[in-house]
Amino acid sequence: MGGAVDRADPDAGARSGAGAHTPHHPALPGWDAIAVQALRDREFARLDAAGLAYLDYTGGGLYAASQLAAHHALLRDGILGNPHSTNHASQRSTRLTAMTRQAVLDWFGADPDTWTVIFTPNASGALRLVGEAYPFGPGGRLLLTADNHNSVNGLREFARRAGAEVTYLHLTTPELRVDAEVVTDALTTPAAGGGLFAFPAQSNFSGVQHPLEWIETAHANGWDVLLDAAAFAPSNRLDLGRWQPDFVALSWYKLFGYPTGIGALIARREALGRLQRPWFAGGAIDVASVVLMRHTMADAEAGFEDGTVDYLAIPAVGMGLDFLRSVGIETIHARVTHLTDRLLRGLAGLRHRDGTPLVVVYGPAGLDRRGGTVTFDVLDRTGRAVDVEEVEATADRQGVLVRTGCFCNPGASEAARGITADEVARIYALGPNPSHREMRAVLGDKPPASVRASVGVATVERDVDRLVEVIAGYAG
Ligand SMILES: Cc1ncc(COP(=O)(O)O)c(C=O)c1O
Repeated sequence: MGGAVDRADPDAGARSGAGAHTPHHPALPGWDAIAVQALRDREFARLDAAGLAYLDYTGGGLYAASQLAAHHALLRDGILGNPHSTNHASQRSTRLTAMTRQAVLDWFGADPDTWTVIFTPNASGALRLVGEAYPFGPGGRLLLTADNHNSVNGLREFARRAGAEVTYLHLTTPELRVDAEVVTDALTTPAAGGGLFAFPAQSNFSGVQHPLEWIETAHANGWDVLLDAAAFAPSNRLDLGRWQPDFVALSWYKLFGYPTGIGALIARREALGRLQRPWFAGGAIDVASVVLMRHTMADAEAGFEDGTVDYLAIPAVGMGLDFLRSVGIETIHARVTHLTDRLLRGLAGLRHRDGTPLVVVYGPAGLDRRGGTVTFDVLDRTGRAVDVEEVEATADRQGVLVRTGCFCNPGASEAARGITADEVARIYALGPNPSHREMRAVLGDKPPASVRASVGVATVERDVDRLVEVIAGYAG
């Protein structure tokens, strides 16, 4: 490691001088360095106090200081009780939970007559609620993009067990998108017995934003649509007045860091009515009898919230939304776009001394239909990927926090590297927990894992530049 680095500006083809570690890219509209720094100083001062460049927003967002203060005040001054009771404390919790549900609907522009919000432990919990209750059966279908988080891939186990057919839509390289004709063909094949189409609004691997127009094509052809908004919602407006998937899954900590342990399934009431829950629990039923062994499910969201909801933490979701509103989702989007541009340009400009690229980015190299998640490998002079553990540890030592691995998105990861089913079978044959060295012996030059950097509401340009500097250190 170490050595001088040439920086090629991908636009101008110019090279800046040695040691010039700050790329000079023009700011995109919406970038106001003073306002960004003021927000950082006011709400996220702990980042600078710790000297950290946090670049894992797709892993988890960061909470603002004011969110904590507001929630702390509520808990400190309030008496909140289990909402299944009717006393004063209980009614207060019920009211706060109802207000938070309404705040969620407002945030997404969702009409309460059409939509409802179910609080879940996380996005995975929301996805599982749909998977376990969806009426899959012989003749039915589950259609998935190969680009999906494992918590969506896992739905295929419910579908398979019920005898439904599972189909994946494969990705094209290098952009890691699905061809428009491939989607249309798959959606217009009659979905005998019904079908569920599940895709992410934004990839947690490549940052690709898949077309929300797919929702309408799917509906026109009789499909139900499950939209995974976990990676999209933190820095993009999801307007459920305009887009009407049947189910939307997300985790709140990805939007605003706190609280963890709560997500939501935002569902169209009519679609929810078609789900058949596989069991019942306290809180989710109106009546249950033991002598007669019958039960009646509660209506709408109540029938999907098992046991006692996290009534102390749920109000903090509303406070998180208040914080996002105070900044503005369009402002966050514009800032994330600018920082993504800076990161992509910074990485693309890195070269070894002989001019060979230092970095390969998986997915879109530019800003077209993509969000603020950038996955890449660092290449040595022979073009071989440097072990990601090494890169992560080096970055970490310099206070730059990124994520490494395949990010629970095996489909995008395999497509990015051209990993075949045969190679995966050989890796499985190695037994449980093969080492990176063993996997590389099977995969040859195809790296088994990558580095992921993602930007968010508290990111400043300097955070991005620090990562580029760390990677620049690998030039040889
Ligand atoms: C796109 C996407 N979907 C689903 C999930 C699952 O979220 P959780 O782990 O909060 O359930 C994640 C988490 O990283 C994600 O990025």
